[in-house]
Amino acid sequence: MERLNQKALDTITDIVARHNGRLGPVKLMLHDVQHELGYIPFEAMEKISQATGASVAEVYGVVTFYTQFTLEPKGKHVINICMGTACYVKGAQELLNRVVELTKAPVNGTSEDKVFSVDATRCLGACGLAPVAIIDGRVYGNATQSKMVEEFIRFVVEQETKTKREERLSEVVS
Ligand code: FES
Repeated sequence: MERLNQKALDTITDIVARHNGRLGPVKLMLHDVQHELGYIPFEAMEKISQATGASVAEVYGVVTFYTQFTLEPKGKHVINICMGTACYVKGAQELLNRVVELTKAPVNGTSEDKVFSVDATRCLGACGLAPVAIIDGRVYGNATQSKMVEEFIRFVVEQETKTKREERLSEVVS
């Protein structure tokens, strides 16, 4: 297992101190760690356990119960595709296949270049807009027809390719 750097450890310490003593601190702490680091490392579960008196197993139980928490670092952009019944009927599977093809991220996983994470989720409670996709927290309805999802992915891929090209060029020049 890779060790966390000091900055990440300090971030976890600050979050734990901020919420300790408040009601329901475990979930609040986990929420902030997820927000700041993009996932819940084991060190965070240990620190939260020590501060709150909950066992590491209990903290782990909370992490795995709520889909908002992840044990692995996510990519720069997170795409959720709803696979609930209403969305499925309106073409969510085809949309998911297309997203996987364009991002090169596996379902419920992250692309090798860490740019995209793709998650298939349960009903997001917006069935009237089916099929629904959420990109970086923003909801897109009628996602197969509007092509917004596809356009967003293409834009990000283009930008990333450009950035990598520029980085390589500056390495050659310097
Ligand atoms: S089934 Fe997709 S939002 Fe409800």
